[in-house]
Amino acid sequence: MRTQIGIIGAGPAGLFLAHFLHRRGIESVILENRSRVEIEQTIRAGVLEQWLVDLMNRMGLGERMMREGAFDTGITLQFSGRRHHIDFVALTGGKKVTVYAQHEVIKDLVAARLKDGGDIRFAVSDVALHDLASEAPRITFRDASGTAQELRCDFIAGCDGFHGPSRQAIPPSEITEHQIIYPWGWLGILAEAPRSYHELIYSRHGRGFALLSTRSPTVQRIYVQCDPHDALEAWPDHRIWSEMQARFAFPGWTLAEGPIFQKSIVGMRSYVCDPMQYGRLFIAGDSAHIVPPTGAKGLNLAVADVLVLSRAFDAWYRKRDRTGLDCYSANALPRIWKCERFSWYMTTMLHRNPAESSFEDHIHLADLDTVVSSEAAATALAEVYVGLPMD
Ligand code: FAD
Ligand code: PHB
Repeated sequence: MRTQIGIIGAGPAGLFLAHFLHRRGIESVILENRSRVEIEQTIRAGVLEQWLVDLMNRMGLGERMMREGAFDTGITLQFSGRRHHIDFVALTGGKKVTVYAQHEVIKDLVAARLKDGGDIRFAVSDVALHDLASEAPRITFRDASGTAQELRCDFIAGCDGFHGPSRQAIPPSEITEHQIIYPWGWLGILAEAPRSYHELIYSRHGRGFALLSTRSPTVQRIYVQCDPHDALEAWPDHRIWSEMQARFAFPGWTLAEGPIFQKSIVGMRSYVCDPMQYGRLFIAGDSAHIVPPTGAKGLNLAVADVLVLSRAFDAWYRKRDRTGLDCYSANALPRIWKCERFSWYMTTMLHRNPAESSFEDHIHLADLDTVVSSEAAATALAEVYVGLPMD
């Protein structure tokens, strides 16, 4: 088997890359180790930046998102018993917060790619990368029926998330890794309940952080800070609701409860791999970097990477110009570091860190107070939250 770009992973990075390449007349094959049903049901991110929403609409991928998404004018920051609306529309010249679940984006991208005749191999196994430093890289794998296969390509795009094989195929001496692991995680739930508030609430509370988000008028997504090593059994539904009620408590307001039908606990880290390339391998999205979810940046950053990468492939195939490929990491990393900084800032400002002193606690509260009392500080937060410009 042969193609121009061999893509490993059908997450947001791999699927958007295949679409971008198709629009530029470049062929690709996606190898994904999970089934279509699994990738379309994995519950993850929710917030899309404005440029991405605009891009999906321009590409004809936004029809269901525009019908089913929630479009909020800002977010609310809650701390010290007060709530403050941060008005993104006013602060950013009209940009909004779009809440549309990642697995819905995945469904729309897979359907559109298959309709265009795209090649996505689901449920493959034993994916391994070879000859990366040569002009003829290869990917070996087993297809869904277990038969050994080989994909020869001009370039490999490693879009296989943090634990995938692509980054691990780079010799360790060729990269520098930068990392923080946070001493807390998020317990996330989906519950059948009406929306309790008209926008997302990020709450800093003495008992820990909580985030109120949404999925539809009848399904709500809520997170609470927890110990990343907690077992799910330690969180029966009554404990979850009582923590949520305590952390969002506000006079005259109640959090609507309902049956919880999904629960998970995720740990939290910040991570950057530099450079994000080796020979003919280019890594993108969570394969190359991780942000803690408090800034809602991970999915958006994954798409930003592959937009940069698709432009580099385009210049190579049209003009044999390899500047974009050589400079892929240098071009992608400034945005990545700005989003890393933002995600770290939102995370440290909003979570209770049991290892920190009362001094640091007060610094985080002063930080929040600055955002809600200074238009300059609120604008700085809003500009990154709604998405830095792509060009
Ligand atoms: P992934 O989505 O991880 O996709 C990688 C794909 O590669 C997967 O389908 C995987 O099955 C496949 N793969 C792995 N190994 C192999 C292999 N060996 N062979 C073949 N295929 C393989 N981001 C936001 O922007 N906004 C948010 O609001 C937000 N909230 C979040 C909330 C939570 C609780 C979590 C956990 C994350 C959140 N994120 C958010 C982050 C976001 O979900 C990720 O950053 C995003 O999924 C990254 O996309 P990706 O395509 O790089 O990687
Ligand atoms: C979500 O809805 O899943 C979500 C929203 C905002 C975040 C993270 C996750 O910062």
